[in-house]
Amino acid sequence: ATVWAVVPAAGRGTRFGGEVPKQYLQAAGRPLIEHALTTLLAHPQVVGAMVALAADDARWPGWTSLQGKPVLCCVGGGERADSVLAALDALPADAPTNALVLVHDAARPNLAADDLDRLIAAATAHADGAILGAPVRDTLKRADTECTIVATEPREGLWRAFTPQAFRRDALSAALRAVRASGVLATDEAMAMERAGARPLLVEGREDNLKVTTPADLVLADYLLSRRAS
Ligand code: C5P
Repeated sequence: ATVWAVVPAAGRGTRFGGEVPKQYLQAAGRPLIEHALTTLLAHPQVVGAMVALAADDARWPGWTSLQGKPVLCCVGGGERADSVLAALDALPADAPTNALVLVHDAARPNLAADDLDRLIAAATAHADGAILGAPVRDTLKRADTECTIVATEPREGLWRAFTPQAFRRDALSAALRAVRASGVLATDEAMAMERAGARPLLVEGREDNLKVTTPADLVLADYLLSRRAS
């Protein structure tokens, strides 16, 4: 099947603080988004990438290709779902409506090639798509507003959701349009699919596929990516 990568990169990255959107922070000498795009495009089944950018993004390096494959960009929207929808709508006319789409965070730079391979295989075989994730390993506490513990929650069956998240293009478009119309904030693409009645698969992936959210994450990403390059 034809596989397109879709990279939402239109967020302000406000949780990180700082003025540089986090996908443009450097790890191992390259911006986080370049690491993400390079791994996605290196997969033999991925034919190209569509990146959703903020309208006023002055830092986009203007790539038109990486790994010998097209890198296209479009303007994203106010919420993540809007950015992903804009990217899906901007795919080239010859991209099949049932193409497999891999949605991947721009600030998640340490995706392993074998995880990507297993994800694509799972999503190709499963009509409702698949996402990378990992089981929760810490004990989970529920606290009140004073940080007093009120309960210990069972962690059995709970997973952390990573990206990429892989779905059929037409099914994902319809699911994202539906959540947008309902006013629900979908924090990932799987959530939109679930609300549309789909039952995507979880593919257990490496825990070091981290999303850079804090300065400590950036230190770790730099370490992991420097080691990978050597
Ligand atoms: O803020 P968070 O880490 O959840 O953002 C995940 C990804 O979604 C980031 O790559 C961010 O740029 C992207 N995003 C977007 N459009 C928005 C909000 C977030 O493309 N309106």
